[in-house]
Amino acid sequence: MMTNKYIDAIKIPSRNEVEEEHSWMQSEIERIGEAKLKELVASSIKARKNAYIPYSNYAVGAAVLCSSGKVYSAPNTEVVTFSQTGHAEGNAVSKAISEGEAKKNRRFVEAVVVCHSGESEPCGSCRQIIAEHCDNALIIDVDPDGNPVTVTSLKILLPFAFTPSHLKDI
Ligand code: THU
Ligand code: ZN
Repeated sequence: MMTNKYIDAIKIPSRNEVEEEHSWMQSEIERIGEAKLKELVASSIKARKNAYIPYSNYAVGAAVLCSSGKVYSAPNTEVVTFSQTGHAEGNAVSKAISEGEAKKNRRFVEAVVVCHSGESEPCGSCRQIIAEHCDNALIIDVDPDGNPVTVTSLKILLPFAFTPSHLKDI
């Protein structure tokens, strides 16, 4: 077969990496435990009730589990200019930072539970914000009653991410 430098440079996650990610998610679910997951889900449902959504009427609530064990939650907060809208996941991470979670270690996010209707995952911008504060995290999407719809990980949602380590040794 003819060699081609572009074909040689193709980069996709290996089957083995995907399998390992599946096992990592299972062990994280067990490590975090039912009680904490329940608290995160309740927190995301509660935050969603405070969504300020006059334009989209699409309510989202997010709860972030920090390595400190603390949980911070927030809803989406819309702005008439649209582009200034705060997403629930980003708002919850900002709340954790404002309470001091990033002071000791930028990698404070362990899991994010997001509550909304329909099946979707955090947007690209929120994935990048989460990547700023962990090497990997469980991403759990639940319906408005708190039933799990999807469980995945940041690494699956944002493979080959551009991270702080590419710029700085942090
Ligand atoms: N939204 C979030 O809160 N998180 C996301 O990652 C996706 C979108 C919000 C923004 C806006 O208020 C509404 O959902 C519709 O886009
Ligand atoms: Zn987003």
